[in-house]
Amino acid sequence: MQLEVKQEIAQRISNISVSSTMKVAADADRLRREGVDVVDFGAGEPDFPTPDNIKQAAVRALEQNFTKYTPAAGTMELKQAVVERHAKDFGTSYKTSECVISVGGKHVIFNLMQALIDPGDEVIIPVPYWVTYKDVVNYAGGKCVFVDTDEASGFTLTAAMIEPWLTSRTKMVLINSPSNPSGAVLDNAEFEKIYRLTNDRGIFLMTDECYCHFLYDSKPFSIAALPGAKETVLVAGSLSKTYAMTGWRIGFGLIPEPIAGAVLKLQSHSTSNPTSIAQKGAVEALRGPQESVQTMLAEYRTRRDFVVQRLRQIPGVTCAEPRGAFYAYPNIGAALGSTGIANTLQFSERLLEKAHVAVVPGEAFGTDKHVRISYATSMHELERGLDRLHRFIADLV
Ligand SMILES: Cc1ncc(COP(=O)(O)O)c(C=O)c1O
Repeated sequence: MQLEVKQEIAQRISNISVSSTMKVAADADRLRREGVDVVDFGAGEPDFPTPDNIKQAAVRALEQNFTKYTPAAGTMELKQAVVERHAKDFGTSYKTSECVISVGGKHVIFNLMQALIDPGDEVIIPVPYWVTYKDVVNYAGGKCVFVDTDEASGFTLTAAMIEPWLTSRTKMVLINSPSNPSGAVLDNAEFEKIYRLTNDRGIFLMTDECYCHFLYDSKPFSIAALPGAKETVLVAGSLSKTYAMTGWRIGFGLIPEPIAGAVLKLQSHSTSNPTSIAQKGAVEALRGPQESVQTMLAEYRTRRDFVVQRLRQIPGVTCAEPRGAFYAYPNIGAALGSTGIANTLQFSERLLEKAHVAVVPGEAFGTDKHVRISYATSMHELERGLDRLHRFIADLV
């Protein structure tokens, strides 16, 4: 008797979609392989190499055969390095039992949603948001509650904008400052007010600190440093951008002990430990010289100034000034509608096809008139790409 093979994909997978930032990268890659000279503003990763001292630490780890399983939530050495660096940079006081090491910051965020969100739980997410938030909340069966911010005020968020959306079902508020994609930075006092709103109601406040060292006008700040904040604040951290280590896949959570236990359980049955040699590199990143971070920040600042100035010269384009991270989020609404281009997805496809510039459509981040430009690329590429973008839009409007 022949068994009928059930080929339907599980329902929970249909609740999520392929990351559109990855789709742009794939499209740009395909064109490049066809020999097209593509300028890539899509990639959300530093163009700098991983600093040498970090690479050498991983080489040493290999030579010393540090190539076996480690504890599923990371080595004690790396947890210690994480809590020490966080204490030094932000004045927090975490214990290693409140730290988990994961396979990148994305993994921490995914695991925390799996560990905390039940079907119907609401998660407040300011718009524009990093694409992944929506999908990981949906995958956990949660409900995203989007809170709009305003381009005219630089996409900045205030506690007053969050408060009306808090309900008895709100489980978490998710803050990403500096923001991917807008570069907006939440004012420290407003951050504190949001913390009070959430903490008073027993709601978790997740702070995605992926870009926390790339600030142009303010000093690094972690809401987790407030007295008592450790009980309801969930820090999602990453070494990817800070140390130009995107491929190494090391992130961390600084979270209450019972939640760390839940994440450990999940990791022990899924990924097990983050790569052993990458963990050794991460220890060196956190404990070794920190100058490379400031060098990258200075370069990003020069590029930010150049990109914003050039974008504002394009007919019909407006651009809020990014105050952190390495993205600009210009409004290209003038190039939509009567130009025959219906939305930012079509705009991005047309731009790639005709002008060979890769950007990420704003629909991926929850707004309908913007595109994201990553300026984590050389000045030469920025000049070439912005010339092309200028011509492309000028010809349309
Ligand atoms: C806002 C934000 N959070 C977290 C991450 C996760 O980075 P990773 O998984 O490489 O550590 C990214 C990566 O692009 C990001 O933009």
